Amino acid sequence: MIDDPYGDEQLVELYDLDNPSGEDHDYYRALAAGTAKVLDFGCGTGLLTRSLVAPGRVVIGVDPSPTMLGYARRQPGAEAVTWIDGDHRVVPPTGDVDLAVSSGNTMMHVAEHAAAVGALAAALRSGGVLAFESRNPAARAWEQWTSEATYGERDTKAGRLKEWLELIEIANGRVTFDAHNVFEDGRDAVYRNVLYFRSADEITADLLAAGFSDVVIDGGWHGEPLDAASRLLVVRATK
Ligand SMILES: C[S@@+](CC[C@H](N)C(=O)[O-])C[C@H]1O[C@@H](n2cnc3c(N)ncnc32)[C@H](O)[C@@H]1O
Repeated sequence: MIDDPYGDEQLVELYDLDNPSGEDHDYYRALAAGTAKVLDFGCGTGLLTRSLVAPGRVVIGVDPSPTMLGYARRQPGAEAVTWIDGDHRVVPPTGDVDLAVSSGNTMMHVAEHAAAVGALAAALRSGGVLAFESRNPAARAWEQWTSEATYGERDTKAGRLKEWLELIEIANGRVTFDAHNVFEDGRDAVYRNVLYFRSADEITADLLAAGFSDVVIDGGWHGEPLDAASRLLVVRATK
């Protein structure tokens, strides 16, 4: 069992192929228009982070996984980004960031949600915006995460890969599962994941307590109204 669910070099090499830039990245890039300083929290491989680079704009990527950030630092264009190893405790409280984003459901990995949004508030200037997405607990995505439903086999540059999820525990909005990855040589890399499914009300309460206002939670990337069937909570708040 490996603690860092993003700690396997071979799987990190596959991450961007499995998680390409899509309408989520378009959404965050549109928010960045006209900004001078942007911070990407839980930036992972930095695919979005590097695409936020623009003339005259400072771009910072923060992530606690040395494997993810090591990959990010090796990519073309990485030198235009300031990469910081760590979680919310290392976010510089400069009070001058125009936009903080957190893509790929990163906030669901964060146990200390209130402290993390507090740290992002301290990084932002007054009027700065925090934007992130989180899976909607009302849609109960974990019910689809059975070993049978998630089992797959595919050819990758690391060879033939068999993969599936194994649900371990569901308790108080906290879903624990193991991601199994069996390589050709029989190695099963098992990653323990813990995801916090927070409701719109819980997220809003933490944002307001951290000093944010104008909290807007949409049900999709194009301003869709939020309802019980919405897969995602797309969250935006102003400091
Ligand atoms: C699903 S990946 C998303 C990466 C990237 N933002 C993207 O959109 O592809 C989740 C990321 O969250 C990071 N992460 C895990 N726990 C974290 C924490 N407490 N604070 C910040 N980032 C965290 C992981 O290292 C990983 O890179």
